[in-house]
Amino acid sequence: MADIDGLNAPKEFYTDIPQKSESFYLKGSNSLDWGMKNRLSRIFNPVSGKTVMLAVDHGYFLGPTAGLERIDVNILPLIPYADTLMITRGALRTMVPPDTQKAIVLRVTGGASILTELSNEDLAVDIEDALRLNVCAMAVQVYVGSEHEHQTILSMTRMVDMGLRYGMPTLAVTAVGKEMVRDAKYFRLATRICAELGAQYVKTYYISEGFETVTASCPVPIVIAGGKKLSEIDALTMAYRAIQEGAAGVDMGRNIFQSVAPVAMLKAVRAIVHDNETPEKAFELYKTLKNEKD
Ligand code: 5RP
Repeated sequence: MADIDGLNAPKEFYTDIPQKSESFYLKGSNSLDWGMKNRLSRIFNPVSGKTVMLAVDHGYFLGPTAGLERIDVNILPLIPYADTLMITRGALRTMVPPDTQKAIVLRVTGGASILTELSNEDLAVDIEDALRLNVCAMAVQVYVGSEHEHQTILSMTRMVDMGLRYGMPTLAVTAVGKEMVRDAKYFRLATRICAELGAQYVKTYYISEGFETVTASCPVPIVIAGGKKLSEIDALTMAYRAIQEGAAGVDMGRNIFQSVAPVAMLKAVRAIVHDNETPEKAFELYKTLKNEKD
């Protein structure tokens, strides 16, 4: 209990300074609650409004992917250079030191493997565990147009409802079934469904034609996946175009951890996302950093 003897009388009320009521910097997030905004601000840099997420959750359906054979050896050294780590709870608990200050985005769906129908996913983590792990968002796979479309969309809405209850953002990850065409029409449909049903941000793939219509018609931030490994200059060019065409960041995995110089690549991607650097200049940075390492 505070000592109440000898309290100074309050005297300075700054009556000439109106209390500020500023809008939140992130697209579509202004009406969210304080805790939700606070978590989002740990993912999206408040200065640039963007994020570089490092995705290392592939093992939840792929097993030990190339570059992720040993998360403790290959990935821990990269964490300082990412804004956010996207990971499963198993990898987080077993391999990431709990004193990390990095924002964590937790993969919370699962239930399929590359040996079976991939869209047959459901919620695989309780929100209580996400809260226990002190993460900043939960990632849910959504398969619009695939066999288990209905089930995965409703998994997302269940997570959104629970997330709203506890101030935890939901990242909807649009997964494209093998049979689907990856074009602007498909991604406008998939991302808009996720946003309309309440996801606080959406992950999708970059497409070279019409991506700006996908970001424009989605009322919440979009981050792009990296997809399969490209050459460094091609991956940097893709990131650049995505940012210039309205993306709020990247959630890249293989194009970073499968690079011959992952830290250099992560720093080059950061230059594009946070500093609007051109792909050519970012590639120069990549080569310089890579050579310093060699
Ligand atoms: C798995 C995912 C991955 O996080 C996503 O694919 C990002 O990794 P990459 O850049 O390697 O594609 O959501 O479904």
